[in-house]
Amino acid sequence: MTRRYSTEPEDKRAFTEKYDRVWTRAARAYDVIVKTLPLWKSWIGKAVPEIRGPRVLDVSFGTGYLLTRYAQKFEVCGIDYNARMVRTAQRNVREAGLRAELQRASVEAIPYQRETFDTVVNTMAFSGYPDGKAAMSEMRRVLKAGGRLVMIDVDYPSDGNRTGTFMTNLWKNQLGAIIRDVDSLFLELGFEHTDREIGGFGSIHLYVAEKLGLSLER
Ligand SMILES: C[S@@+](CC[C@H](N)C(=O)[O-])C[C@H]1O[C@@H](n2cnc3c(N)ncnc32)[C@H](O)[C@@H]1O
Repeated sequence: MTRRYSTEPEDKRAFTEKYDRVWTRAARAYDVIVKTLPLWKSWIGKAVPEIRGPRVLDVSFGTGYLLTRYAQKFEVCGIDYNARMVRTAQRNVREAGLRAELQRASVEAIPYQRETFDTVVNTMAFSGYPDGKAAMSEMRRVLKAGGRLVMIDVDYPSDGNRTGTFMTNLWKNQLGAIIRDVDSLFLELGFEHTDREIGGFGSIHLYVAEKLGLSLER
């Protein structure tokens, strides 16, 4: 079973706009799926116990299902690139009687000052960004030193099992996910992290990455 990381798309703007159109069409269905599919809920729900407050940023919150599971405990902000997702999430949070400052923005230009958040949450989204290094650097910038990036996404299983490898390749080849060596990226960008395989025969990973040392962000 082949295990090969993706190459990043050359035209990053075209990639983002293409998938933004997909999300506009899919937002409604996604809202239903994420609220009802037990497997999805259980995967992304694994992020919740790892969140530390008081200030939390959810990057690419989608329709906001996960926000409704932790917003009562923290001071929560969120960004997502898709306008329809933002409106749906704002409604879901409001209807749940919760508060969160949600706005449209890109992971590559997060509209907050450096070192603002104790935790950045990022679930099932990183493999949909066209520039992994730019996205992770920007999430790191807004984290306080010692703050944590809690990320859930697809990657190859560490033991190379056939089913998990097949599933990762399915995400890559059929759904267009960009499968990256996320462990190396964390090291390169100054995080200390753990990597737990939480489902999908080792293809769904929970990363908890602490921002190391004194911040040199500008
Ligand atoms: C699969 S959904 C994940 C939603 C949610 N985090 C979850 O776990 O259910 C991916 C989300 O990433 C968002 N997204 C894609 N590109 C983005 C970008 N450049 N900046 C911010 N969000 C982006 C999409 O709009 C979509 O809402």
